[in-house]
Amino acid sequence: MRILNLAQRQHRCSLLTRNRPPNGDINFFESTDGSGCISFQKRTTQQMTTTSLISNQPTQTPARNGSTPLIRLTDVRKIFFTDEVETHAVSGVHLDIRDGEYVSIAGPSGCGKTTLLSILGLLDTPSAGSYALKGTEVATLSFADRARIRNRQIGFIFQSFNLIGDLTVYENVELPLTYCGLSASERKTAVVGALERVGMAHRAKHLPSQLSGGQQQRVAVARALAGKPAILLADEPTGNLDSRNGEAVMDLLKELHADGATICMVTHDERFAGHAERAVHLLDGRVVEDRLAA
Ligand SMILES: Nc1ncnc2c1ncn2[C@@H]1O[C@H](COP(=O)(O)OP(=O)(O)OP(=O)(O)O)[C@@H](O)[C@H]1O
Ligand SMILES: [Mg+2]
Repeated sequence: MRILNLAQRQHRCSLLTRNRPPNGDINFFESTDGSGCISFQKRTTQQMTTTSLISNQPTQTPARNGSTPLIRLTDVRKIFFTDEVETHAVSGVHLDIRDGEYVSIAGPSGCGKTTLLSILGLLDTPSAGSYALKGTEVATLSFADRARIRNRQIGFIFQSFNLIGDLTVYENVELPLTYCGLSASERKTAVVGALERVGMAHRAKHLPSQLSGGQQQRVAVARALAGKPAILLADEPTGNLDSRNGEAVMDLLKELHADGATICMVTHDERFAGHAERAVHLLDGRVVEDRLAA
């Protein structure tokens, strides 16, 4: 019988979800989760209107005007230094995202999508520029402060699910909640609610290896939403799924968005990008296109 205390679980979580260490800084996520309800419509045609075409300069993104955005990136840059090689992964991104928006991020491999998402999720810090979250500058916060905000406000969904193999479905969803200071009964309510939301409550005692890929990703979605984060960040969440399971996860994200979640999703797949209401295109670390749905 496996018995893991909280410290062991947190350690496991940090190992399994560790992000690429930038400049020796070790990042790991302790996401949150919880929320939800359901309703969805399928968009059969993608009617997009170009609202701005951006190259290399400060821009007015669709959300740039008006009230304080949930997220405001101003001239954000990220440079990685390795073996005398300088990689400019993000090169001056200006981006506003309003509360409740559903944004897709696309672009060729290596253009900086994951790096940008890591910055948005406070897994990584920009080398330069400003990141205001709900009007508060967060780019320069300490590691601990970033972790605290991340834990309460941001949920992550990864292409490779990142479930912990020897924890049950229930334990996987519960794990990030242990960082939030919830009581056992509050955690139980949140976990059961999240699993019901993704239709996986009946598999609560299964291990990830006993689930299909689509089911594992639904559990990962439950883990991301159980703590009711303000922002859901998804990095190619359908990348390891067949099209049917991919659609199911997309429908789930759509439902979460309909319930008010702010979603940023990296995807290579045009069909899935069409589920978002706004499409941002990156090239060489820059936003080159930013379009709103009609
Ligand atoms: N920790 C790191 N150290 C050094 N270089 C890095 C690091 N992380 C990313 N890079 C580099 O930054 C650039 C952007 O990487 P990133 O992972 O953001 O691309 P991406 O758009 O997500 O690509 P993909 O579609 O293949 O996932 C790449 O050239 C990559 O090699
Ligand atoms: Mg990537």
